[in-house]
Amino acid sequence: MTYHKIQTPDIDFFVQLLGQDHVLYDAETLAVFSKDHTEDLIYSPEIVLFPANNTEISSILIHCNEHHIPVTPRGAGTGLSGAALPIYGGIVLSTKRLNQIISIDEDNFQAIVEPAVINETLQQAVIEKGLFYPPDPASKGSCFIGGNVAHASGGPRALKYGTTRDYILNLEVVLPTGEIIWTGANTLKYSTGYNLTHLMIGSEGTLGIVTKIVLKLIPYPTKNTLLLVSFNSPETACAAVSKLFIAGCNPSVCEFVEPDAFKLSSALTGLALHIPAEVEAFLLIEIDGNDSEQIAKEVDTLCTVLYELHCIDILLADTADQKEYFWKLRRTIGEATKKNNVYKEEDTVVPRAALPNLYRGVKEIAARYQLRTICYGHAGDGNLHVNILKDNLSDEYWNNEVKDAIREIFFLCKKLNGTISGEHGIGLVQKEYMSIVMPQIQLELMRKIKLVFDPNSILNPGKIIPN
Ligand code: LAC
Ligand code: ZN
Repeated sequence: MTYHKIQTPDIDFFVQLLGQDHVLYDAETLAVFSKDHTEDLIYSPEIVLFPANNTEISSILIHCNEHHIPVTPRGAGTGLSGAALPIYGGIVLSTKRLNQIISIDEDNFQAIVEPAVINETLQQAVIEKGLFYPPDPASKGSCFIGGNVAHASGGPRALKYGTTRDYILNLEVVLPTGEIIWTGANTLKYSTGYNLTHLMIGSEGTLGIVTKIVLKLIPYPTKNTLLLVSFNSPETACAAVSKLFIAGCNPSVCEFVEPDAFKLSSALTGLALHIPAEVEAFLLIEIDGNDSEQIAKEVDTLCTVLYELHCIDILLADTADQKEYFWKLRRTIGEATKKNNVYKEEDTVVPRAALPNLYRGVKEIAARYQLRTICYGHAGDGNLHVNILKDNLSDEYWNNEVKDAIREIFFLCKKLNGTISGEHGIGLVQKEYMSIVMPQIQLELMRKIKLVFDPNSILNPGKIIPN
């Protein structure tokens, strides 16, 4: 596919449409929009557009479709797979002006929002009405709901409550050819032909640009207790995860964290965490609900099970401050790794009981390639983030041998009936590995679907599907 460079008449068209202030191509803006949170990758757009609504987005896409100009949609830029990187130049289309919570429908437990509403802003707004929007990516304080939709994002509470995918009822989407559609209905059930809503979720802005999102809400669980559980071996911690479910526990969160991960986030945040020498892994576990006595009972059972599973110690956080302390340490692990080192973040996921095999295999592969890794993540979901650190590796090794190691890790995921991304998406950096988990026929179906929506491949080209 060859794309056209942006010319003066294109700029004139965009300025006419959006106003001068919303069409930027100064060096500083281009630098900001050349990166997201993925590794140290940089791809400069030629221009950045800030439309205010669906009709402006439609006009932009009609123009770009006609003139073969690539358009890369972008939310908050917190993605870890490079989906917001404009690898062919062209336009970065920022959704940031579409940032309104349009309505919260307390009769139906639904909300309608624009894509640039920050995840945590939505959570707070609905909590005020006793309602709950559970998906909570680590970047919830800055990531946009639109980006969460694009990546089918998860987060710690996905364990009990499901991912973004489970809370989307209907989407307004501008297609690459400019038409504006609704993908489904504002109903809790939907058995009305192909599910275009779910096709859009996780499509990383390759099929359309989402401009309104109808979300499902649930009653807010008002109480919870958080436990930080230490183990003297990571494999014992990983093995404990499926066993505690088998024993009847139903935590809302079950996160695995290596001590090295907490050491980094502790250094970044200044929050001290004493880690005894024998501790080699943690599980951060939350029990939630509405009844304190019931929660206390569940915590008791959980503690009994955990001691039977050979944990070393359990720290209980039941004040808001203590919980916030642990959560801050957990949520800043990615950011802390990035501050410390260039790294590749792999988003491996397997059926829960296979977690010990995944962990052991990842460490064995990393040792063979002499790579330092930091593992953490959503153990209850079998979703292990593997941060591979560049340290002093040469660029040559980083771009070749390290990819072979990642390939081996992904083959292991497949062998364990898992896959190569649980919640970060494929974007740019994982697409070369798609054929590990997908036969050609499936990739071909995806290629064809892409072309049905986007016959000229102008929308976020070069993402998800390998060339
Ligand atoms: C986390 C992000 C990186 O779990 O997914 O911290
Ligand atoms: Zn995560």
